[in-house]
Amino acid sequence: MNHKSIQIINQEHATISAMLYSIEMMERRGPKGNRPLFFEVLRAMLFYIDEFPEKQHHPKENLYLFPPVLKKAPELRETIEQLELDHKVGEYRIRELQHLLLRWEILGDDCEAEFRSAAKKYYDFYLHHLQLENSLIIPKALKVLDDEEWSLMDEAFEDNSDPWLSHSVDSVYQNLFSKITNHAPAPIGLGDS
Ligand SMILES: [Fe+2]
Ligand SMILES: [Fe+2]
Repeated sequence: MNHKSIQIINQEHATISAMLYSIEMMERRGPKGNRPLFFEVLRAMLFYIDEFPEKQHHPKENLYLFPPVLKKAPELRETIEQLELDHKVGEYRIRELQHLLLRWEILGDDCEAEFRSAAKKYYDFYLHHLQLENSLIIPKALKVLDDEEWSLMDEAFEDNSDPWLSHSVDSVYQNLFSKITNHAPAPIGLGDS
């Protein structure tokens, strides 16, 4: 079945994965000859994760996806509790990462290793989270949700303003969108890899 909400969740998961991958590429590449641009773009990418997945994607999963799946498939309770906990700590972890990037930028390269180590843990944490949702929650939702649950979920997920999905030029996030697409490495941007 082709539910709009599932298409949007899949697109959002793909965007988050691409953003994480580009952040990792960028971090591996390091500041090279343009230190200010390196920090500006990396900061914009971390801000994107804080602004969209954390504030829009996760709350909708908590409200519209997890409860009906849990009601019909109680065997997934442990997994769903873990995913909800990830959503809770994820917000703290992305802020922490932004802070560690600022420390590196402002206090200097003695703080680089601390950022790199936290960033690696963050990618692993997030990719594991997405993998659990993709492999266990979404397939189960497709089997057990009823029409009313689908219409609530479709309505909630269609109401999104992620610039990567809407590509709206009027968006207040246009500067953020342009900065990342023009300078970040593939797959999210057009900058050097
Ligand atoms: Fe999630
Ligand atoms: Fe998700």
